[in-house]
Amino acid sequence: MEMTGNTILITGGTSGIGRGLAEAFHALGNQVIVVGRRQARLDKITAANPGMTGIQIDVQDHAAIEALAVRVRQEFPALNVLINNAGISRTESLAEEPVDLAVSRDMIETNILSTMHMTAALLPMLMARPKATIITTTSGLAFVPRGNFPTYCATKAFLHSWVQSLRVQLRGSPVEVLELAPPYVQTELAGEQQLTDPHAMPLGEYIAEVMQLLTEGDLPDGEILVERVKAARWAERDGEYARQFAIFNPE
Ligand SMILES: NC(=O)c1ccc[n+]([C@@H]2O[C@H](COP(=O)([O-])OP(=O)(O)OC[C@H]3O[C@@H](n4cnc5c(N)ncnc54)[C@H](OP(=O)(O)O)[C@@H]3O)[C@@H](O)[C@H]2O)c1
Repeated sequence: MEMTGNTILITGGTSGIGRGLAEAFHALGNQVIVVGRRQARLDKITAANPGMTGIQIDVQDHAAIEALAVRVRQEFPALNVLINNAGISRTESLAEEPVDLAVSRDMIETNILSTMHMTAALLPMLMARPKATIITTTSGLAFVPRGNFPTYCATKAFLHSWVQSLRVQLRGSPVEVLELAPPYVQTELAGEQQLTDPHAMPLGEYIAEVMQLLTEGDLPDGEILVERVKAARWAERDGEYARQFAIFNPE
């Protein structure tokens, strides 16, 4: 993708990786629209980044996604980049009785269905642009699951598959389809303690490496893979799956 001259909508732009990407693209002079539920966070980000726009929606709300698409078409007709990044991650105990399926459903709605819905709602706009990009955030856990996050890992494996099919269907169109598969990064995804977990990659380092990869265009098969995620991404290919699985799931 081009690194400048874009109009970019980022879901999950109120914190973590989404906010990092929003600010990095904004600093390059792109028009950036951040989407999230927390109005106070949207206000803070747009105040810190003059020219950035915040739109408050819950991506689980299908009517809100449709209304967002109408608003974007009117206010930002040049939209050419969608970053499907909103996501939630929860631990689950499948042996518990009763299993709380509301937790599983919440992750499926946010991580999978909202991504599919947002893409469907904005794709006609993207298709009408000379060059457009859809980036979807998956995870290293799409490739090697952690047993305490069963539905979360499965939602990301779903997205990895779905993104490949989207790429096939958009072959020959102006829309490039990329997958962003982060390693474990210091954000509040699984709670505040993750922000300072020394085992997680510092957010600033992660965003800098991603922006470098995007600038270089070094994206085999449309995958944005920083060094730290490659062990998980290529575990199966490299005959390392059992070892990686054991690291993620110690006895
Ligand atoms: N950090 C990691 O270790 C890691 C690793 C692999 C993949 N990822 C993926 O990276 C993406 C970003 O996560 P993060 O690590 O940056 O965590 P984060 O700081 O918790 O960010 C999650 C973002 O998603 C938004 N969001 C969640 N539910 C939403 C909803 N119903 N409607 C609208 N927005 C919603 C949140 O905004 P509001 O709360 O304001 O709505 C927030 O901006 C996720 O897809 C995550 O699965 C993260």
